[in-house]
Amino acid sequence: MTTSRSRLDGVFDFDEVIDRRGTASEKWEKYRGRDILPMWVADMDFRSPPAVIEALHRRTEHGVFGYTGPPPELVAATLSMLERDHGWQVDPGWIVWLPGLVSGLNVTCRAVGEDGDEVLTLTPVYPPFFSAPGNSRRGVVRVPLREENNRWGIDFERLEAAVTPRTRLFMLCNPHNPVGRVFDHAELQGLADFCLQRGILICADEIHCGLLLDPDKRHIPIASLAPEVAQSTITLMAPSKTFNIAGLGCAFAVIPSEALRRRFRQAKAGIVPMLNPYGYLAATVAYRDCVDWRAALIDYLRANRDTLAAALGRMAGGLTMAPVEATYLAWIDVRGTGVSGPVRFFEEAGVGLQDGCDFDGAGFVRLNFGCPRSVLQEALARMSRALETLHGG
Ligand SMILES: Cc1ncc(COP(=O)(O)O)c(C=O)c1O
Repeated sequence: MTTSRSRLDGVFDFDEVIDRRGTASEKWEKYRGRDILPMWVADMDFRSPPAVIEALHRRTEHGVFGYTGPPPELVAATLSMLERDHGWQVDPGWIVWLPGLVSGLNVTCRAVGEDGDEVLTLTPVYPPFFSAPGNSRRGVVRVPLREENNRWGIDFERLEAAVTPRTRLFMLCNPHNPVGRVFDHAELQGLADFCLQRGILICADEIHCGLLLDPDKRHIPIASLAPEVAQSTITLMAPSKTFNIAGLGCAFAVIPSEALRRRFRQAKAGIVPMLNPYGYLAATVAYRDCVDWRAALIDYLRANRDTLAAALGRMAGGLTMAPVEATYLAWIDVRGTGVSGPVRFFEEAGVGLQDGCDFDGAGFVRLNFGCPRSVLQEALARMSRALETLHGG
């Protein structure tokens, strides 16, 4: 793929097609040497904010890369972000830094309950929600989300029926990967009440909280609902998705309960490594100095989402997608196409999607639209042509 400059979107150019080949990118290596546009794993094909890149350059010039702790400016920037963006006041002592959010999911499962206990989760969901409990010899209990009137929602009756005396933890993904929902106040209050009444702790993966696409939606950290919810919750967040710095490894847990925080720290001791200076620095600058960049990104992603939704509606085979309220990930129902192996089918058409089965969602594929619009349009044209051929158009 060539590098081209086409249009400036405000001051930030999300249209630029950047060649990621030769950077050992997980997303692009999968299809190395093949004409398949990778639209699977959740990172974006955009450059990180210029302020982040400049700060990393300056840090590189310094040239000494020893063991590094969380800079005080990062703590301040994180607290300000939580208050500014989510109206959540957090005490600096509640934060535990992590080199990745998946580490946090695993440490949480290890810290809560005993071998043989159960972890509840809503499916389809990001695959580590299935593996993390098993890694700590806990069982996973899957409660399907319900699609009704083109909207994914929580089936509280099924959730209730799934509880056993061994249920210790509920793992929430909000905003939700892959269905793209931003759970509202009533839904979150319902989940919090459900868990608190049964003594079930909450692990809230809120990594996509900076990626709400509609101005009328608001991300509510479940722990911010009430002090007693905060005391029962481990919230996991990171700047990695929003600012496209996943490879730099910087995430954090917010754990207001001192006892739970102690258990969490013990569970990760000696296993989870320190963070690196680049991750800390990139996170600091992203949270503190990149508000405008994020606003421009959201506008761009929203237009990509709308382009995608319109194109799916025009395709043969009846592909459908409930509105994506947050994330750059679209959860597409391909059952109407009659294709039994949709990932292979679209790969043969030159588009690399993620199999819904990975999320416990057979009959669906996930498409990552965090890419220049021209790339998205090319992918959609390829998908459309393949479906037309299939349906004899
Ligand atoms: C819901 C969710 N949690 C966690 C992660 C990954 O987090 P990390 O790379 O920090 O381990 C992802 C990445 O796609 C995600 O979608």
